[in-house]
Amino acid sequence: MCGIVAYIGPKDAYPILINGLYRLEYRGYDSAGIALLHDKKLSVYKTKGKVSELEEHLQGKNISGNIGIAHTRWATHGEPNDINAHPHSSESEDLAIIHNGIIENYLTLKEELMSRGHKFRSFTDTEVLINLIEDIQNNEKVDLPEAVRIALNQVIGAYAIVVISKHDPDILIAARKGSPLVIGLGKDDFYIASDATPIVEFTKNVVYLDDQELAIIRRNKDLKIKTIKNKDKTPYIQKLEMSLNALEKGGFEHFMLKEIYEQPRSIHDSFRGRLNASKGDVRVGGIIDYETKLINAKRIIIVACGTSWHAGLVGEYLIEDLARIPVEVEYASEFRYRNPVIYEDDVVIAISQSGETADTLAAIELARSKGATILGICNVVGSSIARATDAGTYTHAGPEIGVASTKAFTAQVTVLTLIALRLAKIKGTISTSRFFQIIHELEMIPDLIEKTLKVDPVVKEIAGKYKDVRNFLYLGRGYNFPVALEGALKLKEISYIHAEGYPAAEMKHGPIALIDEEMPVVFIAPNKGMYEKVISNIQEVKARKGKVIAVVTEGDTSVKKLADYCIEIPETEELLVPLVATIPLQLLSYHIAVMRNCNVDQPRNLAKSVTVE
Ligand code: AGP
Ligand code: GLU
Repeated sequence: MCGIVAYIGPKDAYPILINGLYRLEYRGYDSAGIALLHDKKLSVYKTKGKVSELEEHLQGKNISGNIGIAHTRWATHGEPNDINAHPHSSESEDLAIIHNGIIENYLTLKEELMSRGHKFRSFTDTEVLINLIEDIQNNEKVDLPEAVRIALNQVIGAYAIVVISKHDPDILIAARKGSPLVIGLGKDDFYIASDATPIVEFTKNVVYLDDQELAIIRRNKDLKIKTIKNKDKTPYIQKLEMSLNALEKGGFEHFMLKEIYEQPRSIHDSFRGRLNASKGDVRVGGIIDYETKLINAKRIIIVACGTSWHAGLVGEYLIEDLARIPVEVEYASEFRYRNPVIYEDDVVIAISQSGETADTLAAIELARSKGATILGICNVVGSSIARATDAGTYTHAGPEIGVASTKAFTAQVTVLTLIALRLAKIKGTISTSRFFQIIHELEMIPDLIEKTLKVDPVVKEIAGKYKDVRNFLYLGRGYNFPVALEGALKLKEISYIHAEGYPAAEMKHGPIALIDEEMPVVFIAPNKGMYEKVISNIQEVKARKGKVIAVVTEGDTSVKKLADYCIEIPETEELLVPLVATIPLQLLSYHIAVMRNCNVDQPRNLAKSVTVE
């Protein structure tokens, strides 16, 4: 959520900051701003709207300077407008801050500051923090890093911040708790950002700040890190593996479309080095030390949100089916507050693309406090969840920029399939021949997806037919129930059409009342599992004049007789169908959204990583 970029070094800061903000646009935001230090003057420019509007607003303004901070805001306190946008200046305008997160006790702090005569310009929690820092600096006669440190000790909540001072053009102070922050170490400069995407073109050497850490970044000096309790830390420098290419649209009209088309490769990357079909070997490096724990676990609890929760649901079906270990899948936001029963021999698996989702992080903390073992499945390397878990594995889908998750979902399902297969093998709940059959088929999935993508023109035609409807229903059974949920979520997220996903057989317990000649119903109806029963469900919809769009196995004849439109996918193992069947549903939502002129990559109100509750 929101983005932070900052720079200090010999170069012009503005191009680095503005391009960095563009790179972070995918995270979702409502306003943008920049502060630059030049000629002993701290200029703050900010505006509601897009980064391009900020750029326009800056035409003809003084954008010189080789130190600066920049921000995209996703409002939590105070409406999205110019005044509430970041950076926020202190009362004297000597300091400025950018902040991601929420200062929960901002009201108490604000009242205290107001009682001492401080005045505020905005409605944000952030402005309280910068004034608190200034107040401490003035009253306790300490330097800026120390004032920031003292202030952060008074703050309850989550933050990633960067502070700049008019009186010192050679220093930036950064700190984090609960919101991510990365520092890139250049030859003679430093780049600070919410994630590595604005940094990767300048340096591969990065330091991820940990919670409650403060970085003192001085021009031409070594990076200094300490905890907010004043304990010095040695910066741990890591190498970025991300390539710049992976961040660009590569000829596609939208990131989402590019990411849909990347799936043959991203799935391959998810199992590369972990699956050897000819040798009959599956191993997931990151969790090898926890395999015994997993097979002896009384229960596996998967916690996640949104699309990652849907992947978790596929994981439940896979792990129970293959490895016979009980699995529960929980919305992290419910789990964290509902006082769940957690045993010490439970294994909790947190799934998250961004690795920064606040609810999922809180669920992890709760599980940890009860003594459970915690594993993670994350996409973003070095993310908070990846670091908060005992062990885990990366999905290796590459950076996902479109706010609507596509390739991350199929990568999560791939990794869960590998885990289920591995556990089944060690536990002996799968025959050797079946094991070989599945892993051989899994290895073919990238090719099958390549083939599936050829349905794009058919899907586009269907999209044209139904782009103006107000409701959609998505139905599937067994492994395809989560696929139905994910298909519906994709459509509502980016096209703003109301859509519901349901287990096909549940339709008769309620949603059937919605069906009339206006209602398109998407069935995931491959010739596997409960095929015959799904056909009966299709009959039920047709009997009520509903419109049926069916995802079927190549060569299907039975569903074709009933459906208004069929989208053919290649045949595969029942438990692998979600990987393939998801693709046309992603394309359907994409085309409908484009035809409705929606902002596909940055849908309204949504953020790529939801770092607040
Ligand atoms: C996916 O399309 C969504 N934008 C959203 O549901 C997302 O999956 C959810 O916020 C969880 O994010 P995470 O995987 O980064 O934790
Ligand atoms: N809470 C701050 C605000 O509302 C920061 C929000 C953000 O993370 O962008 O301004």
